[in-house]
Amino acid sequence: MSNNSSFEQTSFAGQVVVVTGAASGIGKSAAQLIASRGATVICIDTNSVGVEQVVAEIKSTGAIAESLLLDISNQSEVKNLVSELAKKHNKIDALVNCAGYPGPTGELVENINWPDYQKVLEVNLYGAIWLTQAVLPVMKKQKYGRIVQVSSIAGKEGNPKMAPYNTAKAGLIGFVKGVAKEVAVDGITVNALAPAVIATPINVNTAKETLDYMIAKIPAGRLGEPSEVAEIIAFMASKACSFTTGFTFDISGGRATY
Ligand SMILES: NC(=O)c1ccc[n+]([C@@H]2O[C@H](COP(=O)([O-])OP(=O)(O)OC[C@H]3O[C@@H](n4cnc5c(N)ncnc54)[C@H](O)[C@@H]3O)[C@@H](O)[C@H]2O)c1
Repeated sequence: MSNNSSFEQTSFAGQVVVVTGAASGIGKSAAQLIASRGATVICIDTNSVGVEQVVAEIKSTGAIAESLLLDISNQSEVKNLVSELAKKHNKIDALVNCAGYPGPTGELVENINWPDYQKVLEVNLYGAIWLTQAVLPVMKKQKYGRIVQVSSIAGKEGNPKMAPYNTAKAGLIGFVKGVAKEVAVDGITVNALAPAVIATPINVNTAKETLDYMIAKIPAGRLGEPSEVAEIIAFMASKACSFTTGFTFDISGGRATY
């Protein structure tokens, strides 16, 4: 098989891939799929029990994974941990940032307390920025890298009554567009993903009114599955995603056809 075969392009053999939010939902599915394609997957989360369980499941299949506890909204810890990872593994081929949470939903913007607003920005936007700042020097040195930032349809279209999340996810899309251009000549691609509603635990506490609004807007008439999201993430994190950067990929069952 030649080096340019599609198998080789989508394989992660010999690669080191960092997946945040790996204890649950989309991050868990992405970690499992990427590990099954040969990567050493570093599974990061704040949920120690959940992330240990995912790593154990991955290892039970013969694939390679390790767990790390990290709150991505802690800037100095992000920096230290990524630097330790790069030292230990000598490289980081891809960052898949799935950690996130919706914050207040079903609330008008003027009723949202600033600490609640800020926390959503710190996790969903600042955390993504700090992870990117930490991995880019490593990727630039190796002249290769893939960065996948999981944004949301909320960042593309805005959903009513979830202003902090809309703000953070739209900010992330803008961040990705510009950074991608900075590193386009370094062999690094940086892309965002905008899922509509996916069947994961994240939606458990979302206000019914907000959830109903979002689901009604999906032409496919159903929720997405984490395994479907994992497939597109695996492409974005692979060598195959070599000439698309700064883009926001869609996985919305037809809600966003642009
Ligand atoms: N499920 C959806 O409907 C949907 C839609 C659009 C976008 N998204 C985005 O997809 C990503 C994954 O969501 P999901 O649906 O899998 O949710 P999930 O709740 O199943 O998983 C999110 C994971 O992130 C972890 N996490 C949260 N804050 C963290 C932090 N500060 N540091 C480290 N880990 C943290 C959680 O512990 C959890 O394991 C999120 O960024 C979310 O905003 C989800």
